[in-house]
Amino acid sequence: MIKCAIFDLDGVLTNTTDEHFGAWCHLFEKHFNIQLDKQLEIKTKGVSRRDSIEVLLDYYGLHISEEYKQNLMDEKNRNYRDLINHIDESKLMDGVLDLLVYLKKNKIKIALGSASRNGETILDRLKIRDYFDYIVDPSLVKGKPNPDIFLAARDFFNLSSQECIGFEDAVSGVKAIKAANMYAVGVGEENLEEADVQVVSLVEFNRELREKIFE
Ligand code: BG6
Ligand code: MG
Repeated sequence: MIKCAIFDLDGVLTNTTDEHFGAWCHLFEKHFNIQLDKQLEIKTKGVSRRDSIEVLLDYYGLHISEEYKQNLMDEKNRNYRDLINHIDESKLMDGVLDLLVYLKKNKIKIALGSASRNGETILDRLKIRDYFDYIVDPSLVKGKPNPDIFLAARDFFNLSSQECIGFEDAVSGVKAIKAANMYAVGVGEENLEEADVQVVSLVEFNRELREKIFE
């Protein structure tokens, strides 16, 4: 029986993928006069800030000092935070609120399992922070596709993997859920073939599917 639902943030609860990639684009244009290849967006989706910068530097064969790298990551985060400054509950993705209400009503624990260090701020802005029983601190665990973010939520509630379900929109995230031995719900239109079930949006995660999985 499922006792805990672990949600990724970007692409599942809200969508700030454009803002993340926009912040990287701005940074690379300013510092290296490079216009990032659009296909890099998918490669940085769901992965940590550090892993993202490594992917980008590697792609362009750039070698820089650790100090410069750290400064760039800080600057990217400032760019990103400027871009998300305005967001509010209108940025909630369809079906999210309804599902959170359903989970609360059925006493299923709710956790945030995001790679983002801005997760709590975004939940506050979306006005859904109070639904969450636990927010995994991604700075303490290995990033996706490692299972650690999902395992941290499971362990916090003292549950088994079979009692947890994960929601993810990125390939790296679905891999992380499966590596944690949990049931994976893929969300969105990307090809998430490793997911146990995939819905285009959480609206599709309807009564029939909920009853099948939770009851
Ligand atoms: C994920 C995004 O939610 O968070 C990634 O999909 C991002 O693109 C990662 O790199 C880390 O985010 P932050 O906010 O800690 O830079
Ligand atoms: Mg995501």
